[in-house]
Order: sequence, then C-alpha cells, then structure tokens
Amino acid sequence: MNFDQIVDRRATAAIKWDKYAGRDIIPMWVADMDFRCAPPIVEALAKRVEHGVFGYTDPPAELNQVVVAYLQATYGWEIEAEWLVWLPGLVSAINLVCRAIGEDGDDVVTAVPVYHPFLTGPVHQRRSVTRVPMRLLTGRWAWDVEALERFLTPRSKLLLVCNPHNPVGRVFTRPELSELARIALEHDLIVASDEIHCGLVLDRDKRHLPFATLSPEIAQRTITLMAPSKTFNLPGLSCAFAVVPNAIGTLPLRRVQPDATARTAVQPVETTQAGAPNEPTCRTGRAPLN
Ligand SMILES: Cc1ncc(COP(=O)(O)O)c(C=O)c1O
Repeated sequence: MNFDQIVDRRATAAIKWDKYAGRDIIPMWVADMDFRCAPPIVEALAKRVEHGVFGYTDPPAELNQVVVAYLQATYGWEIEAEWLVWLPGLVSAINLVCRAIGEDGDDVVTAVPVYHPFLTGPVHQRRSVTRVPMRLLTGRWAWDVEALERFLTPRSKLLLVCNPHNPVGRVFTRPELSELARIALEHDLIVASDEIHCGLVLDRDKRHLPFATLSPEIAQRTITLMAPSKTFNLPGLSCAFAVVPNAIGTLPLRRVQPDATARTAVQPVETTQAGAPNEPTCRTGRAPLN
C-alpha cells in the first residue's frame, strides 16, 4: 500500500468526510482510512467488474476455503466451511446474533465502554442489555469479572465480547479471556466475539487470540464475528462473516436472516408498549457509560 499518496475523498459521498463537510474539522471519528487499497485487492475487484454481470450470488466455495485456510494458518484454528455465514457487516452480525440467541426480554451482557452497537443492537432485537463497567487495573482497562458474575441473572443468555477491544484498545491475554470463558461455561452463556480488529494488532509482542480457540468446549458456544474491512480498508464493500460452531448451528442465524440480504434483520423492531412484560431495558452497572 502507498501511505504517501494523498487521496481527496471529498465529494465522493464518503460518510466520514461528509459528516463535517465545509467545516475545518479533520474527520477522525470512524475507522475508515484515506489510503488506496493494496493493489492485489484493486486488481481482483477490477477483474470481477470486468465480468460485467452482478446478479445474485452465493458465497463461492473457494471463498469459504480461503477463510478456512487463513484461520488455520494464522491462528491454528480448525473450522469447517459449513460453519461460515456471510453477512453485510459486523453491526448486522451483532444484531442477528442478539435476535438469534435467547428469547424476547432475555439479557445480553457486555463490558463498557464499548462500540455503541453493542448497546443498541440488543435493544433493537428485543433484548435487555447489562453493562459491566470495565476496571482500570495497573494502567490497563480490563473486564471486571467479579461484577460480571454479580450482574448475571437466569435471563442472561449472551455475552458480547469485543476482542481486541474498541475503544480501550486492549488485546486481551489468554488468562483474561479464559476467565470470561469459565463464566460462560458455568452460566451456560453463548459468547459472541467481535474480532473485527484482529488483523490490526500492531505491537510485535502481542498476538490476537480468537475466543473460540480457548478450548474445545468454548469453541462450541462461541460465535466469532470477523471481516476484512478494518485490516484491508474495505468497509464500503459490506462483507463480513460469522463462524458458528456445530453445537449452535448456522440455522438460528439463517432463520433471522430471511433472504440473501441481512438488512431486514437489522431494522429496529417495533417498540414494545411501555410496561409490557418483555420490554427491553438497559441496565447499567455501577458506573455510567462514558
Ligand atoms: C468493534 C467494531 N465492530 C464493528 C464495527 C463496524 O463493523 P461493520 O462496518 O462491518 O458493520 C466497528 C467499526 O468501527 C468496530 O469498531
């Protein structure tokens, strides 16, 4: 990639730039880089465009095999091609998983601060959301495991993990993730792990650890969400995938994604009447969201 070439994206309908159009503001509010993609990506897209027909398509089998091989080579993680569900983005994926796991009024648990769709997604999908404030431990933000255990209820069904974490920037260690895994197993929680930043770990002494690779037991209860969009600067192409193990099965995700587009699944559901028994709520832990 050429990091020295300046690309003027104004007047190209770029959401990032249009937000503050005409104002003297450098738009650093979204992870969307102003560099041209790496040449092999541009060439592959150009080749596809040259074909000239853009009809409905299934994910090509070759694409699934590329992902299977990549996860094996990068993380030593063995998955089956059948475990992959292709989606238009991670925000869609978070919404789909919230809808697919548990019932209306069940509880989704996450740590705050966090990327905001972790908090809005559950509510849009008729779930409550419990926010566990993170703790600052020896200069680093970490999950407050004691608080997490305290906040769990019999209706807690889904643990939403951001790994690596946005916004605190942590690449969690194996012991930290293992503690979350222990709790998930003890409380029968499904884990959804947003790993969109897995390819952007810049510290040479840190390695991304997919949550699902912690143990065979945890692999069977973890839905991993990944995308090339951050690492390769492709967010506008709307391409992401979920890795869904056999024990959960891809059916719950496919059931709430009624046709080839998942867009329908991310629309906010109709608002429930105030006071209705299953009305989604947002329960905050000990500290307010930053
Ligand atoms: C943690 C996290 N998940 C998901 C997304 C957005 O994913 P997508 O554009 O695929 O919906 C972002 C974007 O910044 C993010 O930081």
